[in-house]
Formats: sequence, C-alpha cells, structure tokens
Amino acid sequence: MVDPSLKILISSEKIQARIRELGEQISQDYPAGKLHMICILKGACFFLTDLARAMKRDVSIDFMGISTYGKGKTSSGEVRVTKDLDISLEGADVLIVEDIVDSGITLNYLMHVLEQRRPHSIRIAALLDKPERRLRPVHANYVGFQIPDQFVVGYGLDYAEKFRNLDDICVLEEPPA
Ligand code: IMP
Ligand code: MG
Repeated sequence: MVDPSLKILISSEKIQARIRELGEQISQDYPAGKLHMICILKGACFFLTDLARAMKRDVSIDFMGISTYGKGKTSSGEVRVTKDLDISLEGADVLIVEDIVDSGITLNYLMHVLEQRRPHSIRIAALLDKPERRLRPVHANYVGFQIPDQFVVGYGLDYAEKFRNLDDICVLEEPPA
C-alpha cells in the first residue's frame, strides 16, 4: 500500500468471496427469465462486472449515471441523472447495483424514478451499507458488508476521483494533500 493514510478495511479476497456468495444467492432467488442489472456509475462498475460474472444465469447490463456528491466527502443532497439507461424497463426484473448506501438519498430518489418506468420487479444489491448514516429509507435486498461510519475508498469508491482502482476497500484517514 503506497499511501500511508489508507488502511485496509475489507481485503480483495474477502470482497471476491462475498461476491461469489451474492451471485449464487441472487441467481437462486430469481425465476428463470430476463434479469436486467443496472450499474450506478461510477462507483459500482467494479462490483457490477464481478457480480455479473458470479451469476449462474443470463443477465443483461446497463449503466446509469447519478451524481450526489461533489469533490469532497459530504453530500450536497442534490441528485442528478448524468447518464440515462439505453432501454425501457417495462415488465423487466431489475437489479440496481450500487457501491454503497450512505444517507440513502441517491437510492431513495432512484427507486422513485425507476418505479415510474413500470418494471415487473426492482431490487437493490449494494456492496456496502453504512446504516448509521441513513437520512432517507432504503431497503437493500442484497448487501455485501455493513460498515461503520467511516469514509472508504477503493474497489470503485473514490475520494475526489482518486483511489477507485485499489483492489481492497480502505479507510481514508486523512484526505490527501
Ligand atoms: P447516499 O446518497 O448518501 O446514500 O450516497 C451514495 C453515494 O455516495 C455512493 O454511491 C458513493 O458514490 C458516495 N459515498 C457514500 N459514502 C462513501 C464513502 O465512504 N466513500 C466513497 N463514496 C461514498
Ligand atoms: Mg456512487
């Protein structure tokens, strides 16, 4: 680990083992048929690609850009769609794939937006959950790990666009200069 302000919270091995379990479980829970996985950019892109490959069934994937945070660690509370989906969700079984549920503002908003598109079902898979920080209700059907109220980076998660490409999930103790 090059950066002294980073401490490993969840190792790459643990992340991959948990994603294999989630893939098995989600595959069993859905009946045969189409399952559409929606990756919330950018943080969930590593999770989406590993989770999709852990699934024991056909899936389709799509990407949606949502922005809530600015460049720092605190949420502005404002949600914006920065990239919309390519296809209609009408009648589809939809699995939203997100990196972390923090205040819940993003996913609470997104659920309202996507429910209006009349999918057959809609569930959430979140790699991380910080339940202590919740401001809006969100029910994540599948959660990789619950973590304490600490700011984490790596495996897709960033601080000011840095650290996304770390294999491990790390606590960022001091913001980089
Ligand atoms: P929420 O709307 O507060 O639930 O925020 C969700 C989004 O905030 C996530 O998709 C992340 O992009 C970002 N976020 C929340 N907590 C962290 C963190 O600890 N590290 C990096 N990004 C975070
Ligand atoms: Mg995000």
